[in-house]
Amino acid sequence: FFSSAPRIPKDAIFALTAQYKSDTSPVKVNLGQGAYRDNAALPWILPSVAEARERISNHKLDHEYLPILGLPEFRQAACKLAIGPTKFGSVASRIASCQSLSGTGGLHLAGSLIKACSSLKPQVWIPEPTWSNHHLVFSSLGFECRSFQYYDFERKRIDMNAYKKMLQNAEPHSIVILHACAHNPTGCDPTKDQWQEIGRIMKERQLFPLLDAAYLGFNSGSIDDDAYAIRYFINDLGMEASVSMSFAKNMGLYGERVGCTFVVTQNAEIAENTESVMERLQRSEVSNPPAYGAKIASMILNDAKLTEMWYADLITMCSRIREMRHALYNLLVENGAPGDWTHVTSQSGMFSFLGLPRDIVIKLKEQYHIYMAENSRISLAGLNTSNVAYVAKAISECIRA
Ligand code: LMR
Repeated sequence: FFSSAPRIPKDAIFALTAQYKSDTSPVKVNLGQGAYRDNAALPWILPSVAEARERISNHKLDHEYLPILGLPEFRQAACKLAIGPTKFGSVASRIASCQSLSGTGGLHLAGSLIKACSSLKPQVWIPEPTWSNHHLVFSSLGFECRSFQYYDFERKRIDMNAYKKMLQNAEPHSIVILHACAHNPTGCDPTKDQWQEIGRIMKERQLFPLLDAAYLGFNSGSIDDDAYAIRYFINDLGMEASVSMSFAKNMGLYGERVGCTFVVTQNAEIAENTESVMERLQRSEVSNPPAYGAKIASMILNDAKLTEMWYADLITMCSRIREMRHALYNLLVENGAPGDWTHVTSQSGMFSFLGLPRDIVIKLKEQYHIYMAENSRISLAGLNTSNVAYVAKAISECIRA
């Protein structure tokens, strides 16, 4: 079977993490993978998560299977979080939901579900640039993936003209991948007015919103603010939509693979049917999802005190990231780094899309032990008060050299 297996290059972002780990330099800095680090460059276990873990282990934690669709109280709480408590009651019966293997598993499930439920062969429109896995997830399912220009590289902002042109010309029933907030890699999100424009055209042209919600809470520290786009499409426009939520980043549960994918359908009967398809798909792929992380997330979302703690944890992460944004900007300016750096502070979320040419990105890695994605996206969470000056100086030196 395997003698003609091709050799596929390693995933760029995971390969970068491995390179960073094997670098023995004491000054090395990891700005690659989007994973939160505290000011000591260490993974951070959220106090709300620590408290939930404690409560779970005091409750005779067992290792039984979850139902195929996942932990019901987790799914319900996750959907409610996304839709918002006031509107949830009026939408709940039209929702089909399933616990997923974090964001990636959720997007894959959403794609499989559309394929299983519909004979249409929709194209999938993906912003350029985007998260490195989007094309792989949807093309591996056999979708025809098309890119549209999302970012104006020159002006360092969303290219709304190109965006709207795509929406006006896409075939009806095409799927459009939307980053619900904190666009990865650009850190540039549509404003509320722009979301409304995007939503109106999509509704008029019968395009399907498939929302990737991997960073809820990372823009503003508030889920309510960051869920604006999700709620606009579902609650205000009343559209069919799919949302893939991940709790990797906003609860720091990266390796636990905690996600929930849900679709909002036209009525309760369709929702029940759709959920039965999700259950069948899940059975054939993962049988039943991992339990531990879902129990932690569920406990946080279903306990008022823990939810409050979690909201405070989101503020802690967001505030530190924002401080690093401003520190980086100020230090780049102080060091006289050539160019305009205002985009660093106008972008939001976990990343800054610096706009450096590839040779500088390579030089920063090879000469300064500073690791970032090839497209010069940096995870601001990799910066801290001990290394931000070094990074700003290195960038300035490299550009000037
Ligand atoms: C990233 O974009 O760095 C993260 O989402 C990690 C990943 O899975 O690519």
